[in-house]
Amino acid sequence: MTDYSDLIQPDKGQDARPIHLVDKKGYDEWLKGRNARERAHLAAVGFKPDAYVHAILPGDDPERWAVVTTVAKVEELSAWCLAKLAQILPEGRYRVEGHQPGKALFGWLSAQYRFDAYKSNPPTKGPRVLLTTDVAAIAPAVAEMRATALVRDLVNTPAADMGPAAIEKAAERIAKAHGAKLTVTKGEALEQGYPMIHAVGRAAAKHHAPRLIEIEWGKDDHPRVALVGKGISFDSGGLDIKPAAGMRLMKKDMGGAAHVLALAELVMASGLPVRLHCLVAAAENAISADAFRPGDVLKSRKGLTVEIGNTDAEGRLVLGDALARAGEEKPELIVDFATLTGAARTALGPDLPALYANDDSLADDLLKGGTDRDDPLWRMPLWDGYADLLETDIADIGNAGSSPFAGSITAALFLKRFVPDGTPWAHFDTFAWRPSAKPGRPKGGAALGLRAAWAMLQARYDRRKKGDRP
Ligand code: BES
Ligand code: ZN
Ligand code: ZN
Repeated sequence: MTDYSDLIQPDKGQDARPIHLVDKKGYDEWLKGRNARERAHLAAVGFKPDAYVHAILPGDDPERWAVVTTVAKVEELSAWCLAKLAQILPEGRYRVEGHQPGKALFGWLSAQYRFDAYKSNPPTKGPRVLLTTDVAAIAPAVAEMRATALVRDLVNTPAADMGPAAIEKAAERIAKAHGAKLTVTKGEALEQGYPMIHAVGRAAAKHHAPRLIEIEWGKDDHPRVALVGKGISFDSGGLDIKPAAGMRLMKKDMGGAAHVLALAELVMASGLPVRLHCLVAAAENAISADAFRPGDVLKSRKGLTVEIGNTDAEGRLVLGDALARAGEEKPELIVDFATLTGAARTALGPDLPALYANDDSLADDLLKGGTDRDDPLWRMPLWDGYADLLETDIADIGNAGSSPFAGSITAALFLKRFVPDGTPWAHFDTFAWRPSAKPGRPKGGAALGLRAAWAMLQARYDRRKKGDRP
């Protein structure tokens, strides 16, 4: 396992290869400061500061080469501006000349993530270490990276090895590490207390039995914050079975659970002064003689009856019960993460989680957190005008919209019915997956919205950061 804390180290003047950052504006000036040999080299390789490129600058001593890379603006580094270098440079120590890496520290770490648990002969490449004099920035970047790696690992692990029991194990490890209380509800108690989680998960094999996993941590008199995650360990679609292409990636349908567990770990590791209630609704949406059916009516924990229009709209069912449970403790804030709809992907693509919120200041803080951390979100409307699409003939509400329109909005509106009126609530409809790699962001399981939410929680509750708020 990569120890991310080894990959960024305090700069005490150790020997390290320089990384020069240049942008279009400052390039000519920078070039003037290079020697004739370096200038000739850059001219020969056709280095131009207007594209995202890098070049190796040979030194007088063959061992003393340096790197030059272009960035959009040297005064405003993005999280990803060093990520490509961290991927391709050889093992060794590096330092950015004349600038603090700032946000790029995270990208440096993120680029060195690998998931090779299932490879017989994983490729080996030694660590690329970045030095910085901004020592205070190291621990926060490492903490965010550990959380990001946890999301990626949990999502990348095949469903056979990441069923509800394995999700519970992951939650247990996190709870134990921070002295938190873990409560797991399954079997008869689940059927009684959380009928929708039970119905969705009851067709699965015994060793993948459904459960509600709760982590509680923090002082009683601190503000209560609830984090709720969709933990469908595999989504076959149920009796409304998905076609092969649609099922192929469905090991990632516990991505919401992965996000809230990682967020819970960030909260606890940093000692954020909140009373944390993290809830994961874990179930496999499987097919068997005992599977729940289209047309069944489920009685939810909240008391609302739900007619099943489509067994593939299972995420909102398990979340409905978990949100109801979260609301019972009267938190001052509820945040949920779920890989809830294909429609959110159709609208926003894989990179942008859809953000829904019943509270403008919460939405604004999340959007700002996303911008600050280069973890962007896009707010979508909780448009009540579409609530009638969830009406059904025989129950209080249906789980699938009666028209193909506005699929992500109707899913969010369904969840809203299980959140107490007046409780600020944000819902992330996230993909938790990257279909193709970008610098620092490998193909596969992805944390999308995690650091935005973390930034919001820090801005609201971290006493040290509160002063930074605009
Ligand atoms: N897990 C899926 C949503 C999903 C699909 C997320 C593809 C990311 C990529 C969810 O349980 C689902 O199947 N939703 C249905 C709902 C529909 C049946 C109302 C969907 O989005 O098609
Ligand atoms: Zn589904
Ligand atoms: Zn699903």
